[in-house]
Amino acid sequence: MTQKKGSLVCVGTGMQLAGQITVLAKSYIESADIVFTLVPEAYTERWLKKLNGDVRSLQGYYAQEGEVKNRRNTYDEMVTAILTEVRNGQNVVCALYGHPGVFACVSHLAIEQAKEEGYNAQMLPGVSAEACLWADLGIDPGSCGHQSYEASQFMFFEHKPDPSTHLLLWQIGIAGEHTLTQFNTCSDKLQVLVEHLLQWYPVDHKVVLYEAASLPTQAPRIERISLSLLPQAQLSGITTLLIPPSQTLTYNEAVLTKLGITAGDLG
Ligand SMILES: C[S@@+](CC[C@H](N)C(=O)[O-])C[C@H]1O[C@@H](n2cnc3c(N)ncnc32)[C@H](O)[C@@H]1O
Repeated sequence: MTQKKGSLVCVGTGMQLAGQITVLAKSYIESADIVFTLVPEAYTERWLKKLNGDVRSLQGYYAQEGEVKNRRNTYDEMVTAILTEVRNGQNVVCALYGHPGVFACVSHLAIEQAKEEGYNAQMLPGVSAEACLWADLGIDPGSCGHQSYEASQFMFFEHKPDPSTHLLLWQIGIAGEHTLTQFNTCSDKLQVLVEHLLQWYPVDHKVVLYEAASLPTQAPRIERISLSLLPQAQLSGITTLLIPPSQTLTYNEAVLTKLGITAGDLG
């Protein structure tokens, strides 16, 4: 079967202007017929426009001033815009900030749809907020493991954090927002989250509000506060919450016994 004309490549631009994109992602952007993009600030969009003459922002699909719009509709419309051009036989790139497939559904939905219709479609990885967080905070997540959840999903479902690992809560700025129409949370919802977390963490446990820098001239936001103060904290659409471990790792005696070793053998 001959491959249909038209293709889709979803790439990440990284978190910081121009410097965190891979060579491969940049070359796809340069050679694409059309580049759809969703990046959080104007500098990166302007930079993309220097790389390719047909860059189209997806930003306009979000609710505009005074409009109430479910984000599911927004994402469907973005996917339709991308797929329309793929079906027109264009080689389309979708350039999203960070990693295009980390806490970002549009790329996954568009690739799935394009493949289903018989087009070539793939995703290239990018530098995510999480990758920047480990670097800026000097933490190796492998030292004791980590868990990562979308903050609202963490609240709505029976997720169990392990207090001996790092816990990341993404989209903390819209924690508990169930209507998919608002872009903020409130102190009452954050208080519910804090009370939920108190099952596993002490009230004065220090948590980190993290925001990676988007320009090379900026410093990241790394603000340590007590868990109890989260409801009063200043949060935005780019804040990620890191909850460091409150307990040390404990040995799994049952598995050690099966392996014929003891904790002392582990050094
Ligand atoms: C829709 S997700 C997009 C994540 C993105 N695809 C990535 O690879 O990092 C948005 C969430 O990512 C995190 N995020 C986005 N920008 C950030 C930044 N500059 N610093 C820290 N976290 C950020 C926040 O948790 C935010 O609510």
